[in-house]
Amino acid sequence: MDHIRNFCIIAHIDHGKSTLADRLLEYTQTIKITEGQMLDDMELERERGITIKSHAIQMEYTFDKEKYVLNLIDTPGHVDFSYEVSRSIAACEGALLIVDATQGVQAQTISNLYMAIDHNLEIIPVINKIDMPNAMPEEVEDEIVDLIGCDPEDIIRASGKTGEGVPEILEAIVKRIPVPKGDVKAPLQALIFDSIFNSFRGIITLCKVDNGVIKKGDKVKFVQTGMEYTADEVGVLKMDMVPTKQLSTGEVGYIISGIKNATEVKVGDTVTHIDTPCKHAIEGFQEVKPMVFAGVYPIDPNDYENLRASLEKLQLNDASLTFQPESSQALGFGFRCGFLGLLHMEIVQERLDREFNMDVITTVPNVSYMVYDKQGNEKEVHNPSGLPDQTMIDHIEEPFIKASIITSSDYIGPIMTLCLDKRGELVSQNYVSGNRLELIFMIPLGEIVIDFYDKLKSISKGYASFDYHIDSFRPSKLAKLDILLNGEPVDALSTLTHESNAVTFGRRMCEKLKDLIPRQQFDIAIQAAIGAKIVARETVKQVRKDVTAKCYGGDISRKRKLLEKQKKGKKRMKQIGNVQVPQKAFLAVLKLD
Ligand code: GTP
Repeated sequence: MDHIRNFCIIAHIDHGKSTLADRLLEYTQTIKITEGQMLDDMELERERGITIKSHAIQMEYTFDKEKYVLNLIDTPGHVDFSYEVSRSIAACEGALLIVDATQGVQAQTISNLYMAIDHNLEIIPVINKIDMPNAMPEEVEDEIVDLIGCDPEDIIRASGKTGEGVPEILEAIVKRIPVPKGDVKAPLQALIFDSIFNSFRGIITLCKVDNGVIKKGDKVKFVQTGMEYTADEVGVLKMDMVPTKQLSTGEVGYIISGIKNATEVKVGDTVTHIDTPCKHAIEGFQEVKPMVFAGVYPIDPNDYENLRASLEKLQLNDASLTFQPESSQALGFGFRCGFLGLLHMEIVQERLDREFNMDVITTVPNVSYMVYDKQGNEKEVHNPSGLPDQTMIDHIEEPFIKASIITSSDYIGPIMTLCLDKRGELVSQNYVSGNRLELIFMIPLGEIVIDFYDKLKSISKGYASFDYHIDSFRPSKLAKLDILLNGEPVDALSTLTHESNAVTFGRRMCEKLKDLIPRQQFDIAIQAAIGAKIVARETVKQVRKDVTAKCYGGDISRKRKLLEKQKKGKKRMKQIGNVQVPQKAFLAVLKLD
């Protein structure tokens, strides 16, 4: 145990976590980098530059003629996955805190750091990208000293590009990170911090042994789920899985036990022996609940079963995705999918498109609501159209987040306006350094789901970083806004919005839909209604002339091209009553000006 060090890397997105991790793996000759980066293995992850799912890798490192085993536990880099980050952190004794020398401390740096400090991790601060011409190592050093109260000498300057600082980082890992604690003789207690889907081996559980020993062939139990398995194989993760006879206290590795469904392996669960179980589960377990929901419908109704099969496959390696059949008058049969957040939703949408070639319509996302009726019954609602009749409702509660935004003082004005506009309440402001501030807001999650990230980015010209955690459910005065096309309500366009801005919101929805719904052979009335009351109306005028008329019948190939283009456009259209509605219209609400 004396020669094991378990650590993770915490950093804001794009501060160079993956690049630096690669340098550590190269230096310890765990891998030889040829091209690309090793830790993010899904195509999508690489393109987005975001580590979606955490994994772990073991390195061997010799220092002072002693051999050490260093386990790097990778953490997902996005707010939607903060619970998974917290479990990875709980499996470590130390963390590299990486800060980009050109960007300084950002929102995620702070929130991840707090998590690490809560778990008593030894923090090794690293200023990365010092090779860049616009690096400001002195300023960033001051920020870090202010943030964690360390000695400036404790901060390592490094570059993932040139490899500078890498030997110092490895040395610091050995010298500064504590040896894992635990009792080899105690009953087995291993923390599950992740799982990997493997098409041959099923679901592979990744864990860190806090106490005791797990051997190949052991009968084990997952405490939270109560499920029992045989550990058919245990081992450590290097470039490949390397089977071992056992995993002992302090070690990080994998268990293969013939699990077929990712939902059985809950991050944060405890593995113990069936015969000699541990007394307590490891603390901090949470059931991750999806917070953002949207309808996903096949464009072609015949694809319904294919869509189900695709979602089932996605769920094999993404246990946080949930789905249930639902039907919509407007869109037919589809599924209500639950996501951890907006980014998670985008990832699922993209994977359906790329990996499964599914043409789907996704409806406007909404959050989960708690609805209390007059009898005092409570019901969780995942879809505005599933709301009971207004007269039955006593009150509705919606999830609020605690959001942290770091920005320079130049943008404080517009950011305040945006957050207040989104029903945010300012909780506090703290100076990070010089002219940079951290603003803490309480904001309804429902407001973040709709058109927040893009606005924040544009008003701050990209110089604001954002991070959040779900805080609590709170009562809000919400109204259901319905959209009618030629008098027919379109359930997929219903939204829940705060009473105070429901009318304005209805008006903007109608205006936006007017732009998005193409002209057809007849006038189309677009109306917004709250209950029986129409609050806004727009009209799409009928088409006057033949679209191909402008070709004057002259150039036949141009005419054909135009018709083909129209046909392609139709693919993403849905017939509602007698009106053709494009996919974009279902997401209109996301892009209201
Ligand atoms: P996420 O996984 O999205 O959180 O990103 P990350 O923190 O892993 O960042 P990544 O390693 O992908 O690096 C982000 C960008 O910065 C990439 O374009 C890297 O090539 C670049 N980069 C990383 N480290 C350095 C460095 O030390 N110097 C320079 N010049 N560029 C770097």
